[in-house]
Amino acid sequence: MERERWATRIGLILAMAGNAVGLGNFLRFPVQAAENGGGAFMVPYIVSLLLIGIPLMWVEWAIGRYGGSKGHGTTPAIFGLLWKNNLSKVVGVFGLWIPLVVIIYYLYIESWTLGFAIKFLLGLVPSVPANGTDPDTYLKPFREFLTAYVGTGEDIISPSLYAYGVFLITALINVWILSKGVSGGIERFAKIAMPTLFLLAVILVVRVFLIETEHGTALEGLNFLWKPDLSKLTDPGVWIAASGQIFFTLSLGFGAIITYASYIRRNQDITLSGLTAASLNETAEVVLGGSLAIPAAVAFFGVANAVAIAKSGAFNLGFISLPAIFANMPAGTFLGFLWFFLLFFAGLTSSLALMQPLIAFFEDEFGLSRKHSVLITAGIVFFSAHLVIFLNRSLDEMDFWAGTIGVVFFGLLELVIFMWLFGGSRAWEEINRGGIIKVPRFYYYIMRYITPLFLIILLGAWAFEYVPKVLSETHWTVWVTRFYIGGLFLFLTLLVFVAERRKPKEVVCE
Ligand code: PFF
Repeated sequence: MERERWATRIGLILAMAGNAVGLGNFLRFPVQAAENGGGAFMVPYIVSLLLIGIPLMWVEWAIGRYGGSKGHGTTPAIFGLLWKNNLSKVVGVFGLWIPLVVIIYYLYIESWTLGFAIKFLLGLVPSVPANGTDPDTYLKPFREFLTAYVGTGEDIISPSLYAYGVFLITALINVWILSKGVSGGIERFAKIAMPTLFLLAVILVVRVFLIETEHGTALEGLNFLWKPDLSKLTDPGVWIAASGQIFFTLSLGFGAIITYASYIRRNQDITLSGLTAASLNETAEVVLGGSLAIPAAVAFFGVANAVAIAKSGAFNLGFISLPAIFANMPAGTFLGFLWFFLLFFAGLTSSLALMQPLIAFFEDEFGLSRKHSVLITAGIVFFSAHLVIFLNRSLDEMDFWAGTIGVVFFGLLELVIFMWLFGGSRAWEEINRGGIIKVPRFYYYIMRYITPLFLIILLGAWAFEYVPKVLSETHWTVWVTRFYIGGLFLFLTLLVFVAERRKPKEVVCE
């Protein structure tokens, strides 16, 4: 069976940009930046972009294109090609496990954005007290709105029926697009969604910049973000947060870029296309994402309050503050709708990317049809999501193991396998083959030495700072989640070995 391919270069770039541009750009980035001191965050962020993000991005594109040329789109098989050792298969399981665990909670959050968008469009939202009150009173109705939607509970959460229904619809929308295939579904959708998303973001940024209250202006928010604060550079926590954001926002260390890249033709450019997609993501993140939630919150409540809001919960800036601020303006509920619709499109193009690895695995390694692969994958995700929907702390736990620590660990493994075990010069050739631009030679040394070293130090700092804290957690809901995601890993490992025994014929396509 002939493997699918991206139809056009622009389609490939938009699909890859859609993969990267997601909730991370508009929700996670502002929270991370605010929590870590704004200007203090941006310096390690940019250093991490240049020393981890860009090199690892080229490596993942190259690994994926190489695997695709041999008929494989996921890391259990691709690592086996790069490194002839039985261990490579088990290591490769991470490239299925990480996107699977992340999509389980990502899809649920994505569904909130759709649920909120619909409510705002219909005007079914709380009214706000007049401007000028303190943030607590001001935000209260919107805080209650979010709580009523997702539900509360010490251990077991009881979400609204509406939230559950919208989640089901969100899953079905993903299934629908995915079942149409890589170029017929993902690529076609990205060509519509990405321009729409940028347009919506620009409209909202312009509106935010017009905000002026007695507390301040949006410009003060930008100043908070962009005034370099070198005094915090010695704080490992800020470095961990900044590099973690680079991984998350560029979708690196998930296996998802590799799978997308496996649909690129063997001699087609990856150097310039990769750089273009990454640049689009960074524009969406620092220019657009950085000009929405933080400037709006600073203009409305002042820097100190904006930071306090960001620290009070990961979703408070995006799901409480921003809609409350918009609601105070003329046509406010419509602005709120635009904001959540923007988030929904950003989330949707990313969730497709998170599902694709497992789908590709069933297609490539088991020879299943696309429809069956999509349905099985979506079934596993939908079933697992009940943990996140109904069990308190489950979402954070999954995000920690897969989306935070797992990606750095897996990113390091990718670099070692490609740049060392496969071989530095072969890898370099692989990256540059067909390239419209040539990657500057110093990046060879960065990929081989600097990035791995940087990641090892990060993992060490992490182990030191966070792991003891995490392991001391004894709450039962946390342990249920750990057992569940551990079980998923075993399940995937088993599938990889079953697939191995089937020994599918190697297909080589140009
Ligand atoms: N980069 C996405 C974001 O910023 O929201 C998250 C993500 C999507 C990670 C797809 C990994 C992935 F495969």
